[in-house]
Amino acid sequence: MLKFYAKSEPGLEEELIKELTDFGIRAYYVRPSMVSFETDEEAVPLLNMFSRTATRFVILLGDFRVNSLDEIGNAVREIDFRQWIDPAQSFAVRALRIGVHEFTSMDIAARVGEEVIRQFGRLRVNLDEPDVVVKAELYDDWLVIGIDTTGSSLHKRWYRVYKHPAPLRPTIASAMLYHADWRGGPLLDPFCGSGTILIEAFLKHHSLPPNIKREFAYQKIKHYHNMRPLPTRFPNALEGSHSIQSPTLVGIERFEKHVRGACENVGELGVYGIEPSIRLLKGIAQKLDELVDDIQIVITNPPFGLRIGKKGKMFHLYRGFVDALVRKDVPKVCLLTKSLLPQAMLEENYKVRSKWIMYGNLPVRLVFAHS
Ligand SMILES: C[S@@+](CC[C@H](N)C(=O)[O-])C[C@H]1O[C@@H](n2cnc3c(N)ncnc32)[C@H](O)[C@@H]1O
Repeated sequence: MLKFYAKSEPGLEEELIKELTDFGIRAYYVRPSMVSFETDEEAVPLLNMFSRTATRFVILLGDFRVNSLDEIGNAVREIDFRQWIDPAQSFAVRALRIGVHEFTSMDIAARVGEEVIRQFGRLRVNLDEPDVVVKAELYDDWLVIGIDTTGSSLHKRWYRVYKHPAPLRPTIASAMLYHADWRGGPLLDPFCGSGTILIEAFLKHHSLPPNIKREFAYQKIKHYHNMRPLPTRFPNALEGSHSIQSPTLVGIERFEKHVRGACENVGELGVYGIEPSIRLLKGIAQKLDELVDDIQIVITNPPFGLRIGKKGKMFHLYRGFVDALVRKDVPKVCLLTKSLLPQAMLEENYKVRSKWIMYGNLPVRLVFAHS
């Protein structure tokens, strides 16, 4: 067994914990964006390939209370890096620092790097394309040292051939599916843009790995050099709940070019050999009741109004959308918003709960409403 920490989108730690539970792993909240757990070292490739909500998995080598660079050096000296890095390999330290300190994250990286090199006598540093990345994260006086198993963040999905101007991070889209506890019923995204929520729903329903056609950092870690080939389904993931039957997934989008873009993205899913059952319609969310049949849940990411500008215009858009939800009698809605929407939903007697999450640098509310 090894100790790990995983990174989530800020505010979506609970959803990552739920996902790990589906994988048969018991994880717990550590701090914003970070959860921790123990599992077999063999889970590393599977976690990276199958996780929909995590952005990164790191093998935890140690955590310490420290108050100075010297204490950081002393702490790191206790860790044996020789089982993770081959002397012929290169490495880099990536440091993160949150809190008030008299030194910078670059100072931390340099100090940790010195200690790693000391263990080998000589070891190549390559800051651009290292074979192995040592993570050093300092939160106030809490230092966490680990080995990255992921490489470039897991939010970057390969199917995004069409670049929407305001795309939703797929990791947030998937976390919304967990948040809403979606288990395969008819789902509508009435502001679907390039189709991210629908695509993530399709992949989740069929337990298909979202992170393919890419490399992972663990592939270069000494420990994983002689890894067996990976299965194509996570052994414990959603056991029994995935089916050959595809769910009804419908998207509505106002602009033709985004509808075509979403079709391009959906077209990429052909590699899995399952026909993606995603219907994409050109239309407006205010008329969703005229466009779709049976819908059990709406999961969506409406415009925040940052680009549209006028507040009044947004009010009318949101009002029209909520009126259509009511006409269609949609029982459950999960969405991201800056503020106006929950009020419109409360007025229509939806029971609403929400929490703040980070959408890039923008704090937004993740809202779940049911009738
Ligand atoms: C924030 S984006 C959604 C991005 C999408 N989740 C993705 O990952 O690509 C909102 C989308 O709603 C569309 N939109 C704006 N007003 C609309 C309306 N009244 N009905 C339907 N779609 C609308 C925009 O064109 C935009 O593509």
